[in-house]
Amino acid sequence: MKKINISSEAIIYDNFSELNIEDQKLIEEANIAKSKSYAPYSKFNVGAALLLENGVVIHGNNQENAAYPSGMCAERVAIWKAGSEYPNMKIKKLAIVASSENTKVDQPVGPCGACRQTLLEYEINQKAPYEVIFMGEIGKIVKTESLVSLLPFSFDSSYL
Ligand code: THU
Repeated sequence: MKKINISSEAIIYDNFSELNIEDQKLIEEANIAKSKSYAPYSKFNVGAALLLENGVVIHGNNQENAAYPSGMCAERVAIWKAGSEYPNMKIKKLAIVASSENTKVDQPVGPCGACRQTLLEYEINQKAPYEVIFMGEIGKIVKTESLVSLLPFSFDSSYL
């Protein structure tokens, strides 16, 4: 038996002005995406913006449904939009923002487990890591350099 240490790296920024200009712009794009989110049930609005290597920015936001499980997260809306429209274009970075109509979201909101798994597939396929930057409405901002930091011991096609 042995105990191993899985390291997971992230950079924590105290405020928006500490981010580089490219990251700031992508967060702003994620906010634009969030403003179009359809979340009448949870009142929790999420926006995602993906920067592709050709400079194109893809927006995604959560889309809910009266039959609750039929809704979809912002991150997967964005990644599948990118995968369907630009299948061979590398992803450079992803920004995610969230806010709620009920409370002030003052902590970084990381992608859910299913989104992490989905996002990882594209990182593996493009053979290059991409950054994930996320925040709430206000407060600290988290940046990881790779999906691997967000999903240790992940499942992938090598098991199939
Ligand atoms: N949501 C996202 O869009 N992304 C996440 O990673 C977590 C949750 C959405 C799904 C649902 O519409 C609402 O937030 C509340 O869970």
